[in-house]
This record gives sequence, structure tokens and C-alpha cells, in this order.
Amino acid sequence: MAPPLRVGIAGLGTVGAGVVRLLRRQAALLDKRAGRAIEIAAVSARNPEKSRDLDLSGIPWRHVDELATAPDIDVVVELIGGEDGPAKALVERALMHGKSVVTANKALIAHHGAALARLAESHGVSLAYEASVCGGIPIVKGLREGLAANNIRELHGILNGTCNYILTQMGESGRDFDDILAEAQRFGYAETDPSFDIDGIDTAHKLAILTAVAFGTEVDLASVHVEGIRRIGALDITYADALGYRIKLLGIARRAADGGIEQRVHPCMVPKATAIAAADGVFNAVVAEGDFVGRVNFVGPGAGGGPTASAVAADLIDIARGHVVPVFGVPASALSRADPTPITRRFGAYYLRLEVVDRPGVIADVAAALRDQNVSLESVLQRLRAPGDNVPVVLTTHETDEARMTAAVAQIAALDAVVEPPRLIRIEQF
Ligand SMILES: NC(=O)c1ccc[n+]([C@@H]2O[C@H](COP(=O)([O-])OP(=O)(O)OC[C@H]3O[C@@H](n4cnc5c(N)ncnc54)[C@H](OP(=O)(O)O)[C@@H]3O)[C@@H](O)[C@H]2O)c1
Repeated sequence: MAPPLRVGIAGLGTVGAGVVRLLRRQAALLDKRAGRAIEIAAVSARNPEKSRDLDLSGIPWRHVDELATAPDIDVVVELIGGEDGPAKALVERALMHGKSVVTANKALIAHHGAALARLAESHGVSLAYEASVCGGIPIVKGLREGLAANNIRELHGILNGTCNYILTQMGESGRDFDDILAEAQRFGYAETDPSFDIDGIDTAHKLAILTAVAFGTEVDLASVHVEGIRRIGALDITYADALGYRIKLLGIARRAADGGIEQRVHPCMVPKATAIAAADGVFNAVVAEGDFVGRVNFVGPGAGGGPTASAVAADLIDIARGHVVPVFGVPASALSRADPTPITRRFGAYYLRLEVVDRPGVIADVAAALRDQNVSLESVLQRLRAPGDNVPVVLTTHETDEARMTAAVAQIAALDAVVEPPRLIRIEQF
């Protein structure tokens, strides 16, 4: 029997506690599947005195700095979080000391993925991060190993459960964003400072990681166009429904015809019949399109102690088996740098909601602005009346360039009769 894999766990919060529970409860299963025991050699967190609803009996407590160098630890599991600070220092030190690392830290991988991959590979150890994207869904392994024989043309997905929960609840209840956000915070689905989730930053981190895995490129977070969901109103969700769509915050990555890569995060209208539209609540979903396999859907729980621990433990099993794969699917030295394709080159349809003064000629002025930019209208809706003298007008366009649409919207926003900044949502047909 091979000697046990000795694991040092840093961080005992939602994920860390889940990992401790899983490794203890599933010890016999993991032993059988990995061919050796996976043993918790030490744990660490910020405050050793903190009372935790967690059985840590018999597990040595170490200061976090010791985990990277302790000779009786083979693998460091980093579950602290944050792109820099103690998490980064621990991961770098552990890799430099020849220890494999498992992390759930998307911010760290999104900001420093390429450098950390080079460090891991130069020391002949693994850097595993399945848990950093979509919690329990094996999306990294699915893309990197399951779809390894394909050129990936495109991937898109719901990568943030908090936003998906808020949008789903807005749709089901007809209540507005602020109201549902406050409720999500009470239920613990949203942080006290929710900006990371609702402004799309968390989705951007995950998208940048998946893009690197799918296209064999260096993680390029800076090139991701990011918009969040703060400006989505209950009215938009009602109109989307009437038009046959659902609104989702998506991360989208595409290889452009010129070899560049488009990465964008923003609310989208997606047809109700798509798999992505059907993923509701805190669920995540990713659709990847490969040249030989076609479309593959991944759907499942994107966060939480149990699902995320499942992904962390799967990485540990790989390491225990000696299964080493390049961090982003190709050796770090072979990761390419693709030119970013800016969002201004998007070509697609748009939904535009305006709040206008209800008087003759307004629609004609709006239509003229679109005509000036060569944007052709698909539909105009003016059904629901808002309180007061203003009325909402909803337009959808045929496919057009983002640059033209942006110019038309600027012209429309400047009209006297348009009393609020226009709401623009991209329609993705997939
Ligand atoms: N929560 C999820 O569902 C989820 C899903 C996927 C990925 N992730 C990622 O998993 C990581 C952990 O998330 P989480 O939700 O478990 O966070 P959390 O509940 O806030 O726990 C963080 C843990 O890190 C410890 N810690 C903080 N600063 C430290 C320091 N300087 N030295 C040592 N330990 C320190 C804390 O110690 P104390 O307990 O003593 O305060 C706590 O145990 C993050 O990267 C997150 O993005 C989370």
C-alpha cells in the first residue's frame, strides 16, 4: 500500500470546513479510489480560538506559514481566498518547496494563473483549481481533459450563483433588484458587500480561467469586458418573458475569425428553450462547443461547502494517484497570448428599454436615431404603463454592430423626451 497523501488545509471557513468533513466522512471511499489514504496532516486558519461547528479532534493546528515548508505535508490546500496577501504567499511558497497545491481561489488564479502555472511546472508539482470555477461542476477537468481533443469554438455560462439567484427571484416574484438583493443577503446567498458578485467581477475571474483552459492561452483578466446586473429592472424581466427570453448574467468567450479572443461578462437575453435559460436559482451552467464533440452542457451547484469540497477532494484524488496534467491543458511555456477582441466588434441583436414622455413623435425620433446608425428595428413594444406621465418603450433590433448600437443609444439618450438613461441588454441566440 502506498503511503498516505498528507494534506495541510489553510482556511476553515465555508469551503475549508466542508473539505475537512468530506475527507473524514469519505475516507474509505477516497482511499479506495485514490489507491492510498488522504490524511489531514494539519489545519490552519486566522484564529485558532474561534469556535467552529467542526470536529478537528486529532488534527494538529499549525500557523499558516508553516504549511508550505513542513516536511510532513505533501499537499497544501489553500482555502483562504483573495488574490494577494496570505493566500498568494502560501501558494507560492508551497510550490517553491515542491508541494502540490489545491485551491478554490478564483481571484488568485485569475490574477496570477500563468505565473503560478510556470512555478508549479518548474518544480514538477501540481497546481489544481477545479473548485475555483463553478463549485461542484467538474468544468476544468471537463474542458481540459474530457474535451482535450477538440478545438473549442466558444463557451458561455452562468458562473455566479448569487446573480442567478437574484435574477431568478426577480422573475418569479416580479420584485425589483434592491429588494431581492436584500433578501439574498438575509439568506446568506449574497455577501454584505455584494459588489464582487453583482458587478460581474467574480464571473470575470471564472471566465478568464475557463478561457485559458479552453483556448490554451494565458489567463487574461484585464481583457474581459465586465458589466453587472445592477441596472436590470423587474420591468426588463417582464418584457424579456413577453419576448421569449430569460435574462442571465453570462460569461462568454469566443475565438474570433482573426484568431483573437473575445471575453465578455454582461446580462444577456437568452431564448427560453436553451439549457442556459433553464438553469435557475443558485445553479451554475456552462455550454462549451467543440469542433468534433459539438455542444456540451455542464449544469450543477456552483458554490457551497459540500459541492466545493467535492471539487477540492477530486483534485486531491488526482494528486494521490500521481495524475499530473499541465495546469491549463498545455505546458505553461506553450500558453499563447491571443489578441483581445473588443466588445465594440460584437455583432448581434439588442433590447433597448426607454422611459419616455408620452407625446406624439417620440417613437419617430428614436427610430430616426437608429436609422442614422443603420440599425434596423425588429419590434417595438409599448404595453405596460409605468406610474406617472412617462411610459416605457421597448425596442428590439436585428443583428448589428455594437459600435453602431452604442452610437444610436447615445443619440437617443440625448433626446428631450427620454427621461432616464436607456437600458440596453444584448440578445444572444446561441
Ligand atoms: N464559499 C463558497 O461557496 C466558495 C465556492 C467556490 C470557491 N470559493 C473560494 O474558496 C475560498 C474560501 O472561501 P470561503 O467561502 O470558505 O471563505 P470563508 O468562509 O471566509 O473562510 C476563509 C477562511 O480563511 C481563513 N483566513 C483568513 N485570513 C487568514 C490568514 N491570514 N491566515 C490564515 N487563515 C486565514 C479564515 O480564518 P478564520 O476562520 O479563523 O477567520 C477562514 O477560516 C475563496 O477563495 C473563495 O473564493 C468559495
